[in-house]
Amino acid sequence: MDALNFGIIGLGSVADQHIKSILESEYCNLVAVCSRSNTKLEEAKLKYNVETFQDYQRMVENPDIDVVSICTPSGFHLEPTLASAKARKHVLVEKPLEVSVERAKKMISACKEASVQLSCIFQNRFSDDFQKLKKAAEDGALGKLVLGNAYIKWFRDQNYYDSTSWRGTFSGDGGAALINQSIHTIDLLLQVMGPVRSVMGKIKTLTHDIEGEDLGTAVLEFENGALGTIEGSTSIYKGYPEKLEIHGDRGNIILESGRITQWECKDSEIESSGDNQRHASGSSDPTAIGHKLHKRQIEAFAKNILENKVPEVDGESAIKSLEVIQAIYESSKTGREVRI
Ligand SMILES: NC(=O)c1ccc[n+]([C@@H]2O[C@H](COP(=O)([O-])OP(=O)(O)OC[C@H]3O[C@@H](n4cnc5c(N)ncnc54)[C@H](O)[C@@H]3O)[C@@H](O)[C@H]2O)c1
Repeated sequence: MDALNFGIIGLGSVADQHIKSILESEYCNLVAVCSRSNTKLEEAKLKYNVETFQDYQRMVENPDIDVVSICTPSGFHLEPTLASAKARKHVLVEKPLEVSVERAKKMISACKEASVQLSCIFQNRFSDDFQKLKKAAEDGALGKLVLGNAYIKWFRDQNYYDSTSWRGTFSGDGGAALINQSIHTIDLLLQVMGPVRSVMGKIKTLTHDIEGEDLGTAVLEFENGALGTIEGSTSIYKGYPEKLEIHGDRGNIILESGRITQWECKDSEIESSGDNQRHASGSSDPTAIGHKLHKRQIEAFAKNILENKVPEVDGESAIKSLEVIQAIYESSKTGREVRI
């Protein structure tokens, strides 16, 4: 079986999930890494026997590389994507696509023009129970969808924001709790409920010394007529498992930390789950996420490229949660409902 050669840009905390996933997959090889830190590069060379680069431009031009995995701060996803597309490399980028819809659209266009695939990590889409929930909604097991709620009542202390120069800043993170942490569950909400017509939102910065919000709420109207709510925070002691609630006129399903905790459908029973443990939640510890779902997404991405198929999470699909979050920010600023 063929495998694709990956190069990773940025060796911070999330890069570990990429490294483990690539090393464990038969469809992926780790051939290069890029970091500004010589110490990290030397460590990686010793541990993984890979080529090392301090300059990402040079790494993406390396003919051995098929896919560039971008693990840099959120406000620095665009430039490495443009360079990778120019060098005709497929791009796998961490969430969010970028810190603004405008920057994210440039990434989508560049990859389209270069005929390379762009995918964005939203690993929670790959949990067995989320897929079961989504299929149940698509198959009509919940009847007419009425209400969808995403609750992400998480906790991060000030040290978390102070530990890097980019977290919680507008240029590096695009905001804070909604765009960095809550975006995963907002993405799942949109996957099930479909496109959003309008957003009314309010954000606050209550307990941290940061530019972005540590609390946000919103009311959504979906194109199918259903309503939804979002509550996202990094200020709520001491962090609850994130929750997705989908309600219809024939059933309700609730997912907590990637696991279905309630399934009440008039006409269907939940099948026994092969994945019935909660996935590690980042509710209070950002390092607690594990790499199981990253591996599923990265492996599926590589397999799709090898089979000439489009990725499951392409740019167009990944930008949707960013559009909603940007609309919440705008609505909070103007006090008006924002149409999408
Ligand atoms: N999918 C998830 O669950 C998940 C979890 C954590 C982070 N993330 C995302 O991953 C991205 C990175 O987050 P993180 O927590 O790993 O951040 P981090 O600060 O720990 O790591 C980022 C790394 O990028 C490096 N970097 C910056 N500019 C560079 C350049 N020009 N060349 C090479 N390296 C460069 C930094 O030195 C740092 O080591 C963010 O977009 C974040 O939203 C996703």
